[in-house]
Amino acid sequence: MRFFRSGAPRASASDTAASASGADAAFLPPGDGRGAGVRPGTGPTSPSGAPGPQGESASVHGAWADDVLAHRFSRVDRTHPLLAELAAWARIRLLRDAEAAARLGQSPPPAGGMPGTTGAGATAASPSATRPSRPPAPLPETPSLAALLARRPALTTPPEVVQRLSAVVGSEDATPDDVAEIILHDTYLTAAVLRIANSPLHAPLVPVESVQRAVMLLGMRQILSLVAAASLMRLMSPRDVAARRTFWRHAACSATAASALAVACGGDPARAFVAGMLHDIGHLLLMGNLPDIAAQVSRRALDAGVPILTAERELLGYDHCDIGRRLLDHWRLGDAVAEAAGLHHGPDSAGWSDITVHVHLGDFMAVALGHHMPGDELLRPPALGALERLPLTPAAFSSLVGHVLADTEAMEQALFGDGAS
Ligand SMILES: [Fe+2]
Ligand SMILES: [Fe+2]
Repeated sequence: MRFFRSGAPRASASDTAASASGADAAFLPPGDGRGAGVRPGTGPTSPSGAPGPQGESASVHGAWADDVLAHRFSRVDRTHPLLAELAAWARIRLLRDAEAAARLGQSPPPAGGMPGTTGAGATAASPSATRPSRPPAPLPETPSLAALLARRPALTTPPEVVQRLSAVVGSEDATPDDVAEIILHDTYLTAAVLRIANSPLHAPLVPVESVQRAVMLLGMRQILSLVAAASLMRLMSPRDVAARRTFWRHAACSATAASALAVACGGDPARAFVAGMLHDIGHLLLMGNLPDIAAQVSRRALDAGVPILTAERELLGYDHCDIGRRLLDHWRLGDAVAEAAGLHHGPDSAGWSDITVHVHLGDFMAVALGHHMPGDELLRPPALGALERLPLTPAAFSSLVGHVLADTEAMEQALFGDGAS
């Protein structure tokens, strides 16, 4: 399932990148001779009309993008056919962002940071610049996992609407009216659903003025995905405006990718989307309840060049996967959703459900494309056997990645609009 409508399949990103040179070439849409980036709502095959970088700036941006990618992919094998396609799309996105920054008179961040990254992620040191450091002792003020989950802040309250919708959509005899009735109890979600239904992405012939009609237009399963996406943003503490948008982008890109992979593999895309949206909920709980400790974890990961999971275990004695699994078990969204949250960092996919594989790879793709969590910008190798479970050719995978990028941006635009948080 795609969250939004997308364009037609197209040729491989790496083929196009390899067949031309310089940043101008990277702005060409794969399989298209005119020039484009990934534009919200148009799908990856549509020309943007935006000019590519010229002359000196093109070569500067190209060199910068290559440095960023060398850093981001330093721990993975970029010669793998699928990862080569992923890296080619990541480069396209970097160049597009660099060009957008240049139009605003800004320069790209150092290779260790990312365009659009806020906070600590923008000042990350490259791996070669980091020195090994001793693991720190756990922080004395850290609550145990059980104590953290026993608190009653907003985030430990389950998103009831997602629970109820998930149950209704999963039943055989659910009707659009059943779904609409749940949404109508929530003003925020009612507005979000109507906004999506009336957006240019769906372009209804007459305005959609009722939630019932929106459900019929979008479909019940797509409504569930939308509600999961909109609800997650609301769970975050309002003071962390930049951090919550960064978190949301990572979750949304992971969810969109997990859903697309589920479609490609004959799985359940709606459930994969929800699982992808919630896979890092443990991290969100940390950010909301222990913000100072969460900041120390990010700093530790950046300074020592260790995965965020390692930093969490060092400083907390547990990690966001442990938190997420326990929390989602408590929320009763289904074993598959909780398993995906608990296992999504690998390292071995043996015994995993398809949803966990798709969420794991969705998370991997989001980081590869630059939608990473703060302090977690280095791509980890995929779990053993995970890529081998994808029945996709490199060209088909490349097409899927392009649509994931476009659909993620389209969803953010439709839900939040420009500059919204
Ligand atoms: Fe994670
Ligand atoms: Fe993640």
